[in-house]
Amino acid sequence: MAWKTLDDMDFAGKRALVRVDINVPVEDGVVTDTTRIERIIPTVDDIQEKGGKVILMAHFGRPKGQVVPEMSLEHIAPAVADVLGLPVTWVNSDYGDAVAEMEGDEVLLLENLRFNPGEEKNDAGFAKRLATLGDIYVNDAFSAAHRAHASTEAIARLLPACAGRLMAEELGALEKALGTPERPVVAVVGGAKVSTKLDLLGNLVGKVDHLVIGGGMANTFLAAQGIDVGKSLCEHDLAETAREILGKAETAGCEIILPRDIVVAREFKAGAESETLAPDACPADAMILDAGPATVAYINETLEGAKTLVWNGPLGAFEIEPFDAATNAAAAKAAELSKAGKLISVAGGGDTVAALNQAGAADDFTYISTAGGAFLEWMEGKELPGVAALG
Ligand code: 3PG
Repeated sequence: MAWKTLDDMDFAGKRALVRVDINVPVEDGVVTDTTRIERIIPTVDDIQEKGGKVILMAHFGRPKGQVVPEMSLEHIAPAVADVLGLPVTWVNSDYGDAVAEMEGDEVLLLENLRFNPGEEKNDAGFAKRLATLGDIYVNDAFSAAHRAHASTEAIARLLPACAGRLMAEELGALEKALGTPERPVVAVVGGAKVSTKLDLLGNLVGKVDHLVIGGGMANTFLAAQGIDVGKSLCEHDLAETAREILGKAETAGCEIILPRDIVVAREFKAGAESETLAPDACPADAMILDAGPATVAYINETLEGAKTLVWNGPLGAFEIEPFDAATNAAAAKAAELSKAGKLISVAGGGDTVAALNQAGAADDFTYISTAGGAFLEWMEGKELPGVAALG
């Protein structure tokens, strides 16, 4: 799909309404990870260099159309100013006056859009009210593009619209990974539950050459093949679905890679005594918490023969040692191959970035998406409304 970028717009003397995603983690009032703010710098700088004024629109949390003071973007504004290195003025609800009074390189940050019930309803009236504040609409929030909201969808139809630098970068990287990838393509999909990733698995088996299934999801697949997984996390009711996915993969010529050995323990806690066993040897009172070294060796061999990797979800209980071993080892291999220019690696979604950071591998991946839910929906092959509206 073709969309306009900042290069197609004339920002001189214009006000740009820029939808960003600064839904960042905050602990005790302090922003603990500024990555999402850092990633909007190129767009903000570029618009200002082209002579435009920047008005940032964003959401924070899920206030469900109510004013929830702790979710006010007033708390985030200082971190935004700090990261952008620009004066940032937070604007409560009196948008109009603040816009008229913007000075120099001042950036406006509108209050949490989700305080207004019109935002999540994709309400035309609210979109219109926002649209009156600017001349050009820029969407730089790929990670919110799976939401058809007033600031991501309806507004794009009211003003000349384009993708910001981050949005364009995300879409470019994702296209390279699954749209028109260099083959062979490997996907690593981990995480706790198959039920949250059914559409994703269904889409991937038709697109990739090798699909590694890890984490709790792998247990469901093992159980579906008649293997006793003891007390492991497992969705036994999805056995039939898992078998269907295996069948679909076979028809499509996609190799499904399940654990070839398992690391089991009797307790879910850091440092719990563990042993490595064959996949069908999990004791009745134990649970599978990671894939073993033989599995990692096979995944790494597969990565060595691949050209493209898409990664979503950890291979084991990566939050607790030593059950982070398989995730760390496979991530390190992917990072090494990417750094050597042999592999295009793209990762995204919730826990994934945390796991890759913990493995010390994230910096060497070709591209790390800022998106959680949007990354998953993209992997499911769905059209993202925020992207579609730019077309
Ligand atoms: C995210 O954090 O993934 C985005 O900001 C979207 O948030 P949402 O899931 O509350 O829409």
